[in-house]
Amino acid sequence: MKILGIETSCDETAAAVVEDGVRILSNVVVSQIDIFAEYGGVIPEVAARSHLEAILPVVDKALVDASCSWDDIDAIAVTHAPGLLGSLLIGTLTARTLAILHDKPLYAVHHLKSHVYANWLNAEETEPVFPLLALVISGGHTQILYMPGHNQFEIVGTTRDDAVGECFDKVAKILGLPYPGGPSISKTAKGGSEKYNLPHPKVKGLDFSFSGLKTAVLRAVQKELGLPITHPSHDLKNHLSQQQVADFAASFQKTAIEILVEKLKMGLEKYPDVKSVVVAGGVSANKALREALPDAYFPAPALSGDNGAMVAAACYFEIKSGVEPTDPYSLNIYPRISIED
Ligand SMILES: Nc1ncnc2c1ncn2[C@@H]1O[C@H](COP(=O)(O)OP(=O)(O)OP(=O)(O)O)[C@@H](O)[C@H]1O
Ligand SMILES: [Mg+2]
Repeated sequence: MKILGIETSCDETAAAVVEDGVRILSNVVVSQIDIFAEYGGVIPEVAARSHLEAILPVVDKALVDASCSWDDIDAIAVTHAPGLLGSLLIGTLTARTLAILHDKPLYAVHHLKSHVYANWLNAEETEPVFPLLALVISGGHTQILYMPGHNQFEIVGTTRDDAVGECFDKVAKILGLPYPGGPSISKTAKGGSEKYNLPHPKVKGLDFSFSGLKTAVLRAVQKELGLPITHPSHDLKNHLSQQQVADFAASFQKTAIEILVEKLKMGLEKYPDVKSVVVAGGVSANKALREALPDAYFPAPALSGDNGAMVAAACYFEIKSGVEPTDPYSLNIYPRISIED
């Protein structure tokens, strides 16, 4: 079964063709990172307009790269939530129109399910075994999901405030490192020492909190520079040496990873039947985290961030679980916003 997956939830316009949920025939991602690097973050209206320009050429290229015509496509899958509303609308309206035009079944797929299913892509021989725990760590989410089987998700831990990816992005901003913060912190941390002690949040159970860590970095930088806590955060980068930036990046990265690994270990104690751990979402590209969790499944680094292949993969396993297609004429494609199966 060949599925065309379409993803536009944030600042990547993406489409891919995936066979039987695991074999990638094409994977086209047009990123808007260059546009938003200048602003240090995503501007929703600009993102939506960029999706509008890119979406049809991206879908066309995904078909050409896969050597497919519309006749070869069995279904269309599209991210319907969560994400930026204007961005999601471009993807869902495109997918609905294409489904009607080409008479294909349409599936509305949850973005976090797609991140999880990136772990099944190109992993036919060593695929994760159920029941499993999925650590979903991205720009907008930090969750631990318990999955007894395909397409069955229970949220057993979630962040009370910021997501870990957002924390990487905001700490990078304080340190004057380019957007997106995750890759630049990871790169800069290589030349740094983990010399600053940063606190771990005292949130009970499997829930997370990352807003305190972000503030802790801010206060530690102000203290290191001998500046008052009223000193504006956007100016601190002008006072930091390259070595100090690297040391803060290394110390922050180490602490963020320790927090994630600690909670995952607690999760494994709480769910002793778990047979494998999968890590998903943009932050799963982090090399130090991969080294800290040698037994966990990670997507190929290029599939950690947003892409259409993971949407097609998630859709395949939804179809296998008996999920029905969505009516392309119905607005019901929009309201579901959390994983509740
Ligand atoms: N190597 C890395 N180390 C740490 N974080 C990273 C790395 N690469 C990317 N990230 C982070 O991943 C996040 C982007 O991930 P992703 O694209 O999955 O998020 P999103 O789609 O915006 O949010 P969500 O998936 O929750 O809707 C950013 O916060 C980015 O800084
Ligand atoms: Mg994402």
